[in-house]
Amino acid sequence: MSIKTITITGAAGQIGYQLAFRIASGQLLGPREKINLKLLEIPVALDALNGVAMELDDCAFPCLETVTVTDNASVAFQDCNYAFLVGAKPRGPGMERSDLLIENAGIFSVQGTAINANANRNVKVLVIGNPANTNALITMSNAPDIDPKSFSAMMRLDHNRALAQLSTKTDSHVTSIKKLTIWGNHSTTQYPDIHHATVKDQQAIDLVSLDWMKNTFIPNVQQRGAKIIQARGLSSAASAASAAIDQLRDWTFGSAENDWISMAIPSDGSYGISEGIIYSFPVICSEENYEIVQELEMNELSESYLKASEAELLIERKTVEHLL
Ligand code: NAD
Ligand code: LMR
Repeated sequence: MSIKTITITGAAGQIGYQLAFRIASGQLLGPREKINLKLLEIPVALDALNGVAMELDDCAFPCLETVTVTDNASVAFQDCNYAFLVGAKPRGPGMERSDLLIENAGIFSVQGTAINANANRNVKVLVIGNPANTNALITMSNAPDIDPKSFSAMMRLDHNRALAQLSTKTDSHVTSIKKLTIWGNHSTTQYPDIHHATVKDQQAIDLVSLDWMKNTFIPNVQQRGAKIIQARGLSSAASAASAAIDQLRDWTFGSAENDWISMAIPSDGSYGISEGIIYSFPVICSEENYEIVQELEMNELSESYLKASEAELLIERKTVEHLL
């Protein structure tokens, strides 16, 4: 049996601390797949990271083979099959995620280069550190020898948040909701779209009012990250780690039948979105790959949301063009 190498950057941070244990316990690849875990941190956080490694040992996880603790990106990404790029500064109260762009961008050009030089050629890279979409673009641009389809930014947390909001509103379980989409950027311009969604086989759009969709649902999902920061004084962590596992698991093993997920991926021009930016689309995953769901009908309101998020991503791309 092969052993999979999984890299987590920022592994001593809040999300990393959740992610490492869930992955090592088999929640990503299942209980029978052996794992080499490589944990990357900056030098000042290595003591804390050694503590995380000690705790991983103390769990005696059956599928965990080795744990590597390092501050060297080349070591961390050596032979990597799955990379969770978490290590980055989080925003505080009153900040937008894009305020982190200048500070965090350099991290992702260095890590893209290290992935290009060291990772398995079929690596799957999920960028979580904010602003996630443009950080994924930087990472991908600095790894020219790896298929661009290997890079994604995390929108699954937004997708799960939208499921939860719609489930409460329609008094239905999250599992009865299908074909919901988050389009665009992991920011306040993201567009949680229920026009194609169903709830227990009924059209979601027929179960709620336009006013609720526009003035409650969409802003609630767009602003949920800020709400969590306001409540916790820290950004979301357990829900972010959970969403990261959901996204990579579906990307690897396939998304559920008769449904789709939202993934921020390099745009191929679908739905008129500029090529190359990392934009969230509805995708169906199968056989370690994904395809964008095509030919969904879009009304004028939806088009305007899609364009607003595209415009924001084009500005972010301009800001970091020296790193691309
Ligand atoms: P945190 O501050 O608790 O942890 C971040 C860790 O990254 C720290 O331990 C830090 O030392 C480390 N780090 C910084 N630079 C690094 C580098 N160059 N290499 C390796 N490690 C490095 O933050 P957190 O709450 O875990 O959040 C991490 C990031 O994830 C933030 O940018 C946050 O905004 C983002 N986030 C994204 C989503 C999403 O849905 N995409 C959700 C939640 C949080
Ligand atoms: C989130 O959506 O919870 C994260 O992106 C953290 C943040 O800054 O909102």
